[in-house]
Amino acid sequence: PIDPQFEENKEHAGEENGVDVWGPTDPPEELGIHGTHVAVDYDICIGDGACLEDCPVDVFTWVDTPGHPESEIKAEPTHEAQCIDCMLCVDVCPVDAIDVDPG
Ligand code: SF4
Ligand code: F3S
Repeated sequence: PIDPQFEENKEHAGEENGVDVWGPTDPPEELGIHGTHVAVDYDICIGDGACLEDCPVDVFTWVDTPGHPESEIKAEPTHEAQCIDCMLCVDVCPVDAIDVDPG
């Protein structure tokens, strides 16, 4: 599962699609964690899509990740600022790739 302490255990590696990326990263095989309030571990995500379908406020958008060993699409928390902390995405992700920190 995603490490909920990623902000301490990983390094801020930049930004993609307006979302923070936590590394190390080594694309295309190692993509790190995307997002902070709503965080998706791209190296765990299998592109299931339950988060994207179930989020009541449409936080997630698909991005292509060609060459990644787990899946070639990932859910980007593009609109994480809209999150209402319902925790649905955390519950429905089959591989526990998502951490939401209500802070
Ligand atoms: Fe969407 Fe709820 Fe997940 Fe926030 S916690 S991203 S509102 S499903
Ligand atoms: Fe990925 Fe889990 Fe969503 S596998 S697409 S983060 S439901």
